Amino acid sequence: MSQIQDSLFIRAAFSKPTERPPVWMMRQAGRFMKEYWEIKNKYSFLEMCKTPELAADVTMLPVDLLGIDAAILFSDILVTPEAMGGDLSFTNGVGPKFANPVRSKADVDALETDITDKLQYVADAIKVIQQRLNGKIPLIGFAGAPFTVMSYLVEGGSSKDFKLTKLMLHNEPELAHQLLSKIAKVTVDYLNLQIEAGVNAVQIFDSWAQALSWDDYKEFSHRYITEIISKLNRKGIPVISFCKGSSVFAPLMAEAKPDVISIDWNVDLLDIKKRLPAGIAVQGNLDPHILYADKKVIKDRISRLFERMRGEDGFIFNLGHGIMPDIPFDNVKYAVELIKEFRY
Ligand code: CP3
Repeated sequence: MSQIQDSLFIRAAFSKPTERPPVWMMRQAGRFMKEYWEIKNKYSFLEMCKTPELAADVTMLPVDLLGIDAAILFSDILVTPEAMGGDLSFTNGVGPKFANPVRSKADVDALETDITDKLQYVADAIKVIQQRLNGKIPLIGFAGAPFTVMSYLVEGGSSKDFKLTKLMLHNEPELAHQLLSKIAKVTVDYLNLQIEAGVNAVQIFDSWAQALSWDDYKEFSHRYITEIISKLNRKGIPVISFCKGSSVFAPLMAEAKPDVISIDWNVDLLDIKKRLPAGIAVQGNLDPHILYADKKVIKDRISRLFERMRGEDGFIFNLGHGIMPDIPFDNVKYAVELIKEFRY
């Protein structure tokens, strides 16, 4: 077996026995590290994503500084809608903006779906990162799920209530489906490009699925995630499905046949795992706010989660959502060290 296939992360993702749970953290390659700011102060966020050496530098920060068990590609879920024609910018304190939001049939028709040439820089970054990782730990690639990506295109940026996006789903379902189908096609090509370039796992981020009712989730999100997963060249490559709202949607998410479901912190992790078909691993599900708390609280909550999951195959230690930028680095390092000491 190759070194990577035998790693803790890949074994846990395929629900095989491990001596302890592997650990990585969503948004681990980011602003809570001062070393990130040393790079960010010199380049724009998109420059960092589009320059393979810089993307590799940032990807490697949590590998070198935290000793996590899997690396995640430094990029963003919004590089695919940008490649489709979105006029994307990121501003400090404001977040992402699309200057040309997608609101009409003409806007949807204008979106391009041949994007692999434009996203070649991601393949190049993956190759540089894999040289640097040198088989030490697996590299996770990722993309946004169609509904979450659609929400940024339609709203023109981040949103609290997804009013315009949901209006499109409800008043113009055919147009919404046309848009979601285009994003799904691009996402399949993009994830297969990452697999071809050498990632060892992929994660699909449906960060805002929680905004949807059960029926709307089924029709406008789940259906496209199922389509994407079915079209991935995934031999030996575990697929992780993440959404905020997984404590409700997980049984449905399982029908899309991912290898791993990443669970938010609203639910007991063992209870939800028991409700899933055998062979589906879970990832999660510490409330990221715990990492703001005192070390004794961090230790208590992490130990509690470990004890709850002790002896379960198919458990990847992670947060229920990403690390916030102002979480103290020391606390994150402490958490990772603690988890790495556990033994089943
Ligand atoms: O996990 C990692 O560390 C790898 C890199 C990564 C980034 N974005 C880097 C980033 C990943 C996996 C993402 C995914 C992403 N991007 C999601 C899904 C994950 C989630 O947290 O729900 C979403 C919704 C986005 C969209 C996005 N990108 C927003 C809303 C913002 C601004 C606000 C925020 O959360 O930071 C970004 C910018 C962004 N993406 C930064 C980083 C490091 C910050 C850029 C900066 O100002 O330095």
